[in-house]
Amino acid sequence: MAALVSVKDLVKIYATGTRALDGITLDFHRGEFIVLIGLSGSGKSTLLRCINRLVDPTSGTVIFDGTDITAAKGAELRRIRRRIGMIFQQFNLVKRSSVFTNVLAGRLGYRSTWRTFVGQPSRDDVALAFENLGRVGIIEKAFVRADALSGGQQQRVGIARALMQKPELMLADEPVASLDPATSHSVMKYLEEINKKDGITVICSLHFLSLARRYGTRVIALNGGRVAFDGLPADIDERRFKEIYGEDAVEVEIGLGRAETA
Ligand SMILES: Nc1ncnc2c1ncn2[C@@H]1O[C@H](COP(=O)(O)OP(=O)(O)O)[C@@H](O)[C@H]1O
Ligand SMILES: [Mg+2]
Repeated sequence: MAALVSVKDLVKIYATGTRALDGITLDFHRGEFIVLIGLSGSGKSTLLRCINRLVDPTSGTVIFDGTDITAAKGAELRRIRRRIGMIFQQFNLVKRSSVFTNVLAGRLGYRSTWRTFVGQPSRDDVALAFENLGRVGIIEKAFVRADALSGGQQQRVGIARALMQKPELMLADEPVASLDPATSHSVMKYLEEINKKDGITVICSLHFLSLARRYGTRVIALNGGRVAFDGLPADIDERRFKEIYGEDAVEVEIGLGRAETA
């Protein structure tokens, strides 16, 4: 089966001269739950952001379902981006707006009509927003201000907002890095559910090896902008991890030995 996302020889050198990605070639298939791990600075965010072109790669290609994202522009780029949801470590909600308004905003991009300007959502969009809030278990918070919610709840709003696009691919950049262990699981389980039940392909960066092994169907470890491991979660244990990253960095960065399982 053709890959949903095919990354080839991807290189990103920032204006500062930092080589964040140093030749990445990977295929991501429909239905996979891919977890990206790696120390801070290893290129996880850059890779995720090249996939939806929040970052322009220096060279190489990203093919999404047969279309070259790296070459797409204008309406074509918007069409592809609509098929790719994203959630962020800091949730990126509009803090002073209601949960409901934040979720509805996920629908923007679908509509370029006068309705957008007068701020009148369609009945279908309203229904979909409630459906997605229900899916992440916070329908009763719909009219609460976003910043009144706990971190875990805010990230669930982030998921509901991304679901408004009916995405085929969900990119999640350290979605639980700001959350405590128990709350992390409460967010990860919704990502797991949209992967398993809706068949949405997930590419998620995480910094706990235990979470990677628990939720991933495949784990990819980056090191210095290169792929250092690509395989089954069961095949990347603490020993393998230390081989890649060294003893010291691992303890600090990846949460080994911490009580991160709740
Ligand atoms: N906008 C940027 N400008 C310059 N350098 C950047 C920028 N974003 C990231 N980098 C650098 O690129 C490297 C990879 O960063 P990043 O992709 O954020 O890694 P990770 O998400 O794994 O922590 C790091 O050295 C980082 O400092
Ligand atoms: Mg990052």
